[in-house]
Amino acid sequence: MGTFKGNVDFATIPGHWVLANLGKTVLRPGGIELTRTMLDRLDISSKDAVVEYAPGVGRTAKLTLSRKPYTYTAIEQDQEAAAVVMSYLNGTSQTCVVADARTPPLPDSSATVIYGEAMLTMQPDRLKEQIIREAHRMLQPGGRYAIHEMSLQPNDIPSELKDTIHKDVSKVIRVNARPLTVDEWKGLLEQNGFRVIEVHTAPMHLLRVKRVITDEGVLGTLKIGYRCATRGGAFKRVSAMRQVFMKYEEYLGAVSMIAVKE
Ligand SMILES: C[S@@+](CC[C@H](N)C(=O)[O-])C[C@H]1O[C@@H](n2cnc3c(N)ncnc32)[C@H](O)[C@@H]1O
Repeated sequence: MGTFKGNVDFATIPGHWVLANLGKTVLRPGGIELTRTMLDRLDISSKDAVVEYAPGVGRTAKLTLSRKPYTYTAIEQDQEAAAVVMSYLNGTSQTCVVADARTPPLPDSSATVIYGEAMLTMQPDRLKEQIIREAHRMLQPGGRYAIHEMSLQPNDIPSELKDTIHKDVSKVIRVNARPLTVDEWKGLLEQNGFRVIEVHTAPMHLLRVKRVITDEGVLGTLKIGYRCATRGGAFKRVSAMRQVFMKYEEYLGAVSMIAVKE
């Protein structure tokens, strides 16, 4: 994992690939603990046909596979990330498709559980809806859908501040970042055929040392730190991201919602 994406230009690649290149495996705002809560509440079992949107380098995929679902299908648009996920899969009931979550090549009513982490935030609002509607289409009636995304707080955050945060975060991570407030995320799911049954939140501490240790372990954190210090341009980029996250820490959060197809 230390050389994910090979010799990259740290100044220009998306922030999540900067972190993955340094060996970071948890690329979502609420960390592994919010992921564990999400998976526990989804209650994935051997009866479930699971679809994961945008698994990245597959950390959550491993946790899901340890629950031995009936089938597991990942939809990841990045070929190299998909190759990493594929290396964790076995047999014909586990697959990773290189595809866009906006147009997933899976049949209607073919899944009982769908989830995605840190992937809707990076879509414009219209495409967020498209991906949520696709989840609705692929789920059987009563199927469960979960999200784990970046949020803005409080719910009545002034719109100028929201715009500034969108602009500054997008610039530093070099990805369009359009986090919503918790109420807006809930509304988006509800407007697209889901009933939200649980909401869990966590601080957006992606680059805080304590969180990195929780997510990656002490040894993993030391390795990430070493690579960050020694790979040209990495330290500058990570510091810039950390600075912006700290600047807006009061207004940034992480949210996971568990929803049911109505
Ligand atoms: C911030 S990373 C999160 C990865 C992983 N879910 C995690 O939380 O660690 C965003 C991931 O979303 C994927 N992605 C973004 N837009 C996508 C789309 N429209 N279809 C499929 N994958 C997408 C990226 O390739 C990347 O793997």
